[in-house]
Amino acid sequence: MLEKIKETASYLQNKMHTSPKTAIILGTGLGSLVNEITEKYEIPYEEIPNFPVSTVEGHSGKLIFGKLGQKDIMAMQGRFHYYEGYSMQEVTFPVRVMKELGIQTLFVSNASGGTNPGFEIGDLMIITDHINHFPEHPLRGKNLYGDRFPDMSEAYSKDLINKAMEIAAENGISVRQGVYIGTQGPTFETPAEYKMFRILGGDAVGMSTVPEVIVANHARIKVFGISVITDLGVEGKIVEVSHEEVQQAANIAQPKMTTIMRELINRS
Ligand code: HPA
Repeated sequence: MLEKIKETASYLQNKMHTSPKTAIILGTGLGSLVNEITEKYEIPYEEIPNFPVSTVEGHSGKLIFGKLGQKDIMAMQGRFHYYEGYSMQEVTFPVRVMKELGIQTLFVSNASGGTNPGFEIGDLMIITDHINHFPEHPLRGKNLYGDRFPDMSEAYSKDLINKAMEIAAENGISVRQGVYIGTQGPTFETPAEYKMFRILGGDAVGMSTVPEVIVANHARIKVFGISVITDLGVEGKIVEVSHEEVQQAANIAQPKMTTIMRELINRS
């Protein structure tokens, strides 16, 4: 595995003209941040040795190198989800490659269902902590580097959370903070499951992010995460939910999320 990570990193290093310290996983709600990347250089996942192969026809995504403001960045357009059938090793492989490339800070976004009764559809939630509810742990197996038992006491950088709160206030954007529970999907939750996740301590539940954040922490990469609440798993407010509705709610929140991310990346 370490061989593969190094092979992929050296392939990318041969193509890169920059040495970014910042990476972004462009999850739901951040798609349009791509339009703000300048001096772009793109590599489709299909061309990258050892990158997971797409389970669906067509494009599985690409890596984008370029500048966001003054900052050199690398961005993943398209991530690998556990529910698609990838192993946890595959889901988190790009983060391991990031470490090898010298990335120090990772920014991630996602869509989630709100379980906090104070939340509304379209709210942004800065992730302060997470609960890993996936059935497989990304660090299970031989420890490749770093600690066998990694500390997770500040999985999401407090410094970046504080900066993001300042940026939101300056721009008149209201944001929530909360705990994200990552679970395997692909089903949305039953009312009883939403209730369980609330009791467990979650403010929102989604199907991504947690694996990548665990591996980033293991690699001592600082993390900032933000979630758009696209539906509500709150008793009395639960209605039928579809992928299309999730996308629609995320699109509405997109400009606010983009502003926070752009400014935060520039100041970090
Ligand atoms: N549950 C899980 N994942 C999600 C949800 C949800 O309600 N909304 C968007 N992603």
